[in-house]
Amino acid sequence: MRVLLTGSSGWLGRFLAPMLRGAGHAVIGLDVAPGADTDVLGSVADRGLVEQVFAEHGIEAVIHAGGLHKPDIVRYPAQAFVDVNVTGTLNLLECAKAAGHDRFVFTSTTSLMISQAIRDEAGDSAVWLDETSGPIEPRNIYGVTKLAAEGLCRIAWLEQGLATIVLRTSRFFPEDDDTHATPSGENLKANELLHRRLTVEDAARAHLVALERAPAIGHGVFVISAPTPFARADCGELKRDAAAVIARTFPEAPALYAARGWTLPTSIGRIYDSALAEQLLGFRCETDFAALLAALRDGGALPVAHDPAYVSPKEAAG
Ligand SMILES: NC(=O)c1ccc[n+]([C@@H]2O[C@H](COP(=O)([O-])OP(=O)(O)OC[C@H]3O[C@@H](n4cnc5c(N)ncnc54)[C@H](O)[C@@H]3O)[C@@H](O)[C@H]2O)c1
Repeated sequence: MRVLLTGSSGWLGRFLAPMLRGAGHAVIGLDVAPGADTDVLGSVADRGLVEQVFAEHGIEAVIHAGGLHKPDIVRYPAQAFVDVNVTGTLNLLECAKAAGHDRFVFTSTTSLMISQAIRDEAGDSAVWLDETSGPIEPRNIYGVTKLAAEGLCRIAWLEQGLATIVLRTSRFFPEDDDTHATPSGENLKANELLHRRLTVEDAARAHLVALERAPAIGHGVFVISAPTPFARADCGELKRDAAAVIARTFPEAPALYAARGWTLPTSIGRIYDSALAEQLLGFRCETDFAALLAALRDGGALPVAHDPAYVSPKEAAG
């Protein structure tokens, strides 16, 4: 298929574009910033441009991964989030419907499920989060606009029959966390694979699977994250003493971590459950915490990319 990939210059885009081509698709990349996989420079918020891209490139399906995200909150006003994340999504959906498409994949975020209360981790138990969790009360403009875009995807299916798959992906960014300092770097990313992270390669693969499966599913919202080794019954202890649960589940973890000078999390406040994606979408992340431990044990390359210097290409391009 001739697939329009928005955000083609971004972190996800640069992994997803070659993967799509490898699966036999032609990729037309659209991004505000230049990149190796970007063919059209411009914004999804520009309706005229989006219409032109559809007309000139014979687009047959859309993967909408471009947009403003969490680190952009300090850089852009709320209006820019509405223009890019909401109006931009509407532009793409309406052009897809007008072109008679049968599928649309939207990159959303688990972040929209995090209310201020969940973020504060004030409860005495970890919060278990899946597609049934609610009420959904996003705590910032990023989450609010991603949730609105999800709603646009839902009604595109209900009203026009355009199959729309929403992927609520957890973290896959390579840079350091902008809020948590300790532990930092690779240690934090490794810990997060237990409950709130996936590799960028797995994130890209989820999009490929969603593109293939969309017409058979119709509309679906899926949490996409590395499979957690925990169960709901662990939530209380995970909050009180996460290291104990981890040591019980992975007896070799404490020694492997100690050998690297790393620390296991003492408390875990939230867990993303990606079981529905496995059941319905047929997608499961290839890399999980066990794979990370195997790399530590065997001295192999860590399966999680870490690049403290990464900045979104639109910022790098000025
Ligand atoms: N990185 C994560 O951990 C993470 C987690 C959950 C969801 N997501 C979502 O995944 C998607 C990709 O994120 P990423 O990590 O690759 O970020 P990124 O910043 O590296 O890539 C996003 C790309 O979108 C482009 N873009 C921004 N505004 C645009 C516009 N108006 N029109 C067209 N393109 C525009 C940017 O130039 C950039 O290349 C985003 O939708 C983001 O919300 C990311």
